[in-house]
Amino acid sequence: QLMAYRLQLKERVIMKIIVAGTGYVGLVHAAVCAEFGHEVIAYDNDEKKIEAFSSGETDRIVHYVNEPGLADSIRKVYGKHLFFSTKLKDIIEGTDVIFLCLPTPPNMDGSTNLTYYDAALEDIAKSLKNRKDLRRVVVVNKSTVPIGTAIHLKSVLDSNKVENVGVASNPEFLAEGTAVPEARKPDRIIVGCNEDQDFIILQRVYSKFVHHVQTKYIETSPETAEAIKYVANTMLLTYISFWNGIGAKLGEKIPNIRIDDLRLGVTADKRISTWGSFVSNGAGGSCFGKDIASLIYQLRRVNVDTKMLEASFEVNENQKVYLVDRAINENGFQFNNKTIAVLGLAFKKNTNDMRDASSIKAIERLLGKGVSSIRAYDPLANDAAKLEFNPSRNVLFEKIQYVDSARAAIEGSDALFISSDCEEFRGLSRTIEDMAAPPYLILDGRRMIPDFEILVEKGYTYLAVGSMVMEGAVAGTGSS
Ligand code: UDX
Repeated sequence: QLMAYRLQLKERVIMKIIVAGTGYVGLVHAAVCAEFGHEVIAYDNDEKKIEAFSSGETDRIVHYVNEPGLADSIRKVYGKHLFFSTKLKDIIEGTDVIFLCLPTPPNMDGSTNLTYYDAALEDIAKSLKNRKDLRRVVVVNKSTVPIGTAIHLKSVLDSNKVENVGVASNPEFLAEGTAVPEARKPDRIIVGCNEDQDFIILQRVYSKFVHHVQTKYIETSPETAEAIKYVANTMLLTYISFWNGIGAKLGEKIPNIRIDDLRLGVTADKRISTWGSFVSNGAGGSCFGKDIASLIYQLRRVNVDTKMLEASFEVNENQKVYLVDRAINENGFQFNNKTIAVLGLAFKKNTNDMRDASSIKAIERLLGKGVSSIRAYDPLANDAAKLEFNPSRNVLFEKIQYVDSARAAIEGSDALFISSDCEEFRGLSRTIEDMAAPPYLILDGRRMIPDFEILVEKGYTYLAVGSMVMEGAVAGTGSS
């Protein structure tokens, strides 16, 4: 098989690819496959989206998928290797591979909602059934789907009497903010198929991606490929929860433990990753929470004890709100009728993605504690946050005012909550000194103020994840 693969590498075949679903995973994958010279058609039934992507205008593209380098990439290949369509039946002929990049949101019980997936799959099966060119086509699950979905995919295609069709699982591992460079130079490509001819078709797709020595190309069963994605994300979240649940707590409870030095010392061991060791007010994003909940659900169904994963999930959820509770318990701060500045609304820096952002739970907790208003700011996510904090969902969201800078958020506030790791929040000390008088309380969920000691000397109160509360000399009851 390896020999066959090497031969394919030399062939450098151009494949006709449909990417179904133009969310973050699909659009990045489509653009990068096109950059590598394949003929790619990105398909979506949302006409507005397709119009925006076809316009090539950065503003219109980032409105839907805000990923650095993506608009440039699309402009480079659009009309040459990349095309867009809302009509499956017009584009289906001659297709070698269809990547399914469809939304798979979680249900309340942790299971995966396959409504969008199944609807799109029915359309695809019908179009494939009516094609005239009966060449081998492989339908590939790229978005994260429960273990066993490739089999489900095959049974839907078979029940629609689609001929000469194979299925594959080829999970996506991109992190937001760096998706385009990571897609060009992936650290691994995982392909799960049941038939050799399908492995070979996917080798042709990926032959141009694997020129980097660091790219591992792994062929396995569809179920293993599906499981790799869940295990990887669950492992990453568990590692973050380990640091938040153990490392951070050591720094918060035992005098003289310096969490940053603890991290440096522990991660000096090359077996222990630096990524994930930065303590925080919880990890968010579209994948971690959803995938761990789904894996718990899947494991329970086969009678596996899921205590470890439940603990890791729970540590992460508690982490999102506990700074508010610490301010009350360790500093005696009363949130009632206070104005709180909240900096960083998206789940991490360099994105406007609000999915599972820690700020959501933190703001809900602050509102629950009776704050009179919240002055919120994120360099990219203010508009997305307005949609997330829609007062029709919770009338208390009317208390959130959106401002255009960290300075404006701090102005007139009684305390500051830093909820994400945007670079511009690093070194906010001067702004804090300009805009708020001691013993102003700073709640730092990301340890973004390296010179906090200077602020504490001047009388400010600093309470960060991973450290004990530090009250400045002039701090009184902490109820300012
Ligand atoms: C993640 C995985 O990294 C990626 O492989 C997978 O395909 C999708 O999920 P992403 O959601 O983009 O990617 O975010 P990531 O950069 O991994 O960060 C997730 C969360 O963990 C963020 O809220 C981040 O701020 C937080 N985090 C990360 C920490 O709290 N501490 C750290 O040390 C690292």
